[in-house]
Amino acid sequence: MNTSELILQAISASQMAYAPYSHYPVGAALLAEDGEIITGCNIENASYGLSNCAERTAIFKAISAGIRSFQAIAIVGGNEEKMAMPCGACRQVLSEFCPANMPVIVASLDGKHTKEFTLGELLPESFILKQ
Ligand code: THU
Repeated sequence: MNTSELILQAISASQMAYAPYSHYPVGAALLAEDGEIITGCNIENASYGLSNCAERTAIFKAISAGIRSFQAIAIVGGNEEKMAMPCGACRQVLSEFCPANMPVIVASLDGKHTKEFTLGELLPESFILKQ
C-alpha cells in the first residue's frame, strides 16, 4: 500500500470540499482491494445536520459504483493538534464494509502530520448484523 499516494489523493479531494459553514475542508481517499482509489470530500448543507463527511462521501461513491472491498482509507483535515478524526457515524458506516484490521490513516490538511489506527481501534466491538 502506498500511503503517501493515498494522502495526496485525499488532499486533492479536500480541494473539492463544500464547507461554507464550518470552513473546515476534509478529504478522504479509500483504497479498494483491486488498487482503485475512490475519493470524497465533505459536503455541507444550510440545514447543518444534512452535511455529509468526506469518508461517507467516499464510501457511498464506492458502493454505488459496485466496489465493496477495501484495504485502507486516508483522511486529511485540520492541523497537527486537531486532525480530522473520523466521527462516530463514519466509523460505524466504515465498519459495515471494512475489516476491523483495516488501516485508517489520518493526516493534517497539508499532509505533513500523520497518525495511523485500525478501524477496530477506532470502533471496538462494533455493531454489525451481516455474516
Ligand atoms: N468532517 C468530515 O468530513 N470528516 C471528519 O472526519 C470529521 C468532520 C466534516 C463535517 C463538517 O463538514 C466539517 O468537517 C466540520 O465538522
